[in-house]
Amino acid sequence: MPISLGVSNKGSPDIKSFQGSVVELVDAPHSKCGTFGFVGSSPTAPTALMGTYQRLPLSIVRGKGCWVWDEKGKKYLDAVAGIATCSLGHSDNAMRRALTLQLNQIQHVSNLYRISEQEELAHWLSDKSCADKVFFCNSGAEANEAAIKLARKHGHNKRGIDHPVILTSKASFHGRTLATLSATGQPKYHKGFEPLVNGFEFFSYNNLQSLEVLIENLERNGPSIAAVLIEPLQGEGGVNPGDPKFFKKLREICSKNNFLLIFDEVQTGMGRTGKLWGYEHLGIMPDAFTLAKGLGGGHAIGALLVQKHADLFAKGEHASTFGGNPFACKAALTVAEEIERRDIINNVHNRGVQLQNGLKELVKKFPKSLKGVRGLGLIQGLVLQDETTLTAQTIVQRALNERLLVVAAGSKVIRMVPPLIIKENEIRQLLKKLENTFQIHD
Ligand SMILES: Cc1ncc(COP(=O)(O)O)c(C=O)c1O
Repeated sequence: MPISLGVSNKGSPDIKSFQGSVVELVDAPHSKCGTFGFVGSSPTAPTALMGTYQRLPLSIVRGKGCWVWDEKGKKYLDAVAGIATCSLGHSDNAMRRALTLQLNQIQHVSNLYRISEQEELAHWLSDKSCADKVFFCNSGAEANEAAIKLARKHGHNKRGIDHPVILTSKASFHGRTLATLSATGQPKYHKGFEPLVNGFEFFSYNNLQSLEVLIENLERNGPSIAAVLIEPLQGEGGVNPGDPKFFKKLREICSKNNFLLIFDEVQTGMGRTGKLWGYEHLGIMPDAFTLAKGLGGGHAIGALLVQKHADLFAKGEHASTFGGNPFACKAALTVAEEIERRDIINNVHNRGVQLQNGLKELVKKFPKSLKGVRGLGLIQGLVLQDETTLTAQTIVQRALNERLLVVAAGSKVIRMVPPLIIKENEIRQLLKKLENTFQIHD
């Protein structure tokens, strides 16, 4: 369907390509208050927002389960779920009930006081994981900030290092605050924000030699490494699962040298991979790990979880105004309860196998465009061929025409992270819609 573009006289949008009714906007308009007026299937983009996001021309106004609707009533299958966040899908009945009750009771109190929902959630998390203690915050980046401070404290106190270094992997993603950005092993995110925070060094993911050489160089003249911060499966970096052999060695190295091993489970935690924690796939346990995204099922909550020996913060050394308030904790407790009550982990495993098998069939069917599939449970990445001119972002846009939401992970990987409650029949529809996206283009 052709789309008409209404542009205010304050500025003109920079349109890169038209794909059916989908346009890709490159950059926000340069005027102070230019307006994108999308007529037809596209929404009018608000313009008082900073241009930090390259938004698709879709305005989602309602959701139920794995489906969302735009303002014109068009229905889309949601394999993005707020980027691995809406674990129970949209407008889940248990979540609505629990949060309505919570709003009627109490929403926010300061951490100056005891918060029973927070204590209950910490109890559940520590009971179900290798951790003993939990600190709550509001996002993945904040959880990793806490982990970075913890790592530095460990370096100072337990290894006697003045300027502790944290090792992280290339192609990692740890957040957008200055420290977590500095910890992220993707130079494209660093550009323009230098000077970065000192004290991060990078090795290649799943590559023992790269790790060993880095350690050897850094520790030659005495202790300098405090910790290793790593994702059990790299999400944003292209859906790369960790290699259990590498991780086993990594655990040994960290234990032997007294480096803290910290997992960033912001994207993998709370069942996303078909196990409650990503580390369970690797046969080892971290000293600490971070959570956010799926923990709150769409509500802002993050957490740093530590084993006893890594419980290093003294009173007053770390804090958050909102972190772990009753409302956010109730949301996470509801996710936790529903995961258990509805045996959701089992569903993630089964639907993950179904999705991966279906994607493998697509790879066989469209060999010119598709190279392979990577992932665990309900985080799967469909990898485009190096030679193809297709990009993941192009497929994301074409999928919109099929009324399917998917998200890129880098330029060549299409990531699928649907709600953990997705049904067999919905996975079939997802695969069919994706197939249609390639049908016309291979
Ligand atoms: C592994 C990982 N760590 C940290 C973050 C940052 O989380 P947030 O956006 O909640 O700050 C993300 C977000 O995508 C992530 O995938």
